[in-house]
Amino acid sequence: MGFDQTYTRIAKIYDIAVKVLPIWKTWLKRVLPHIRGRRVLEVSFGTGYLMTHYADRFDVYGIELNARMFSVAMKNLRHVRLSANLQQGTVEDLPYEDGIFDTVVNTMAFSGYPDGTKAMAEMRRVLTSGGRLVLIDINYPADRNWVGTRLTRCWQLAGDIIRDMHQMLTAHGFDYEDIEIGGFGSVHMYICHRN
Ligand SMILES: C[S@@+](CC[C@H](N)C(=O)[O-])C[C@H]1O[C@@H](n2cnc3c(N)ncnc32)[C@H](O)[C@@H]1O
Repeated sequence: MGFDQTYTRIAKIYDIAVKVLPIWKTWLKRVLPHIRGRRVLEVSFGTGYLMTHYADRFDVYGIELNARMFSVAMKNLRHVRLSANLQQGTVEDLPYEDGIFDTVVNTMAFSGYPDGTKAMAEMRRVLTSGGRLVLIDINYPADRNWVGTRLTRCWQLAGDIIRDMHQMLTAHGFDYEDIEIGGFGSVHMYICHRN
């Protein structure tokens, strides 16, 4: 539970960093045009920055493991006078019925999950048939450029698990598009359609 203790310690700093770092905000906001349908689940919403930019337009649900991040997110939503159905819990056991979300959003979290297969299976399970998963995470640049590759290695050294996302997504029945959105190709957005 090393990561969880870290998030407990840094929740407030994380909140400020997301709000002031232009690069981080720009990456997260790339999700917004890809949200479809009425009911949206954000898994690992952290301090809720992204959610405050779309909770006015959708029926929003969210799951977050860390209690401190969760309470900062609640405060952020209240601050902009929005609400969402937020729960504390884990991606590995989502407390929702099968096939009820039109879009699942997951940003900068997947490589931190110890069991990627379980997490992916759960995110797929709760999607409607034809629903979409919009996932942003760190991975190697397709062209293996020097800077992007080193940046990815740094995340790996910090404890992130860099996975074969092609294998992961196709094994779970997704068609997907992989768009490199920054960090010299080390930040990827996967737009995934559930078959
Ligand atoms: C790097 S933060 C990303 C937060 C936010 N999505 C963003 O892009 O700023 C990773 C988040 O994943 C959460 N997390 C880690 N393991 C989790 C799990 N098993 N289930 C749900 N959330 C988890 C952490 O508590 C943390 O808030």
